[in-house]
Amino acid sequence: MTRRSMLGALVAAAGVGLYTWRIEPHWLEVVRRPLPIRNLPGELDGLTLLQLSDLHVGPVVDDAYVLDVFARTAALGADIVVLTGDLMSYHAEVFAQLRAIYRYVPQGKLATVAILGNHDYGPNWSRPDLAARVVDELSAFGVRFLRNESMDVRGLQIAGLDDLWAKRFDPEAVLQALDRERAALVLSHNPDTADLPVWQGYEGWILAGHTHGGQCKPPFLPPPLLPVQNRLYTSGEFALAGGRRMYVSRGVGHLLQVRFNVRPEATLFELRAEPSGTAALSAGRG
Ligand SMILES: [Fe+2]
Repeated sequence: MTRRSMLGALVAAAGVGLYTWRIEPHWLEVVRRPLPIRNLPGELDGLTLLQLSDLHVGPVVDDAYVLDVFARTAALGADIVVLTGDLMSYHAEVFAQLRAIYRYVPQGKLATVAILGNHDYGPNWSRPDLAARVVDELSAFGVRFLRNESMDVRGLQIAGLDDLWAKRFDPEAVLQALDRERAALVLSHNPDTADLPVWQGYEGWILAGHTHGGQCKPPFLPPPLLPVQNRLYTSGEFALAGGRRMYVSRGVGHLLQVRFNVRPEATLFELRAEPSGTAALSAGRG
């Protein structure tokens, strides 16, 4: 290698490093997609649902970045907002920080809903007292937490499951109670939950997060670091058994401030009434 080409390689490497550290972790992409739901009430057809996942408010993610994400996504005027876990990364002063930041969380016109992720349970996902404080702090700003329970938003059943790694995932009763004849949607932080034998015939979408899309992904290769057993579940849409489908958000925040080829994401879904029989047909083909 000549001295000049070595210098060029060093400058390029420094550029990629700077990009991975300073640019991409804060370069939010608003992903817009349809969300077809069977038996969706006509009045919800065409309304929007904003998913924000893995904000990780805490010692690493820049507060100004999160506030900017909140301002940008609040301006989208979503009808329903869902936060799919890892609202914080724990440190000693995190609750004051949560109060300062989440007072600006985007509010859905109809509902603002959250579930918990493993990081909301603190060190080793083992502190339910910390999770309870997260719930308290955010509830004060109108966020409704679903912990293995469901709510009804104008005829849409939204079930929120609690976290798998924190050993609080307990979906049986809430899934069983869903009315199969009515529209439903499930929120579950960890995509691995989709592979567990708990779904009792639920057909519909599961909205998840947790992976951050792997945070760094070499072009044309899967991301090397993924906190899931099923390594297919990086990010994006997955067709599952039993007529279920899952969407895994790349998330807003990060653990280490690095992202490469996996931009942070806010997802704006448009609710659509799925013509009856569509899911059954595609399941039959698969
Ligand atoms: Fe996370």
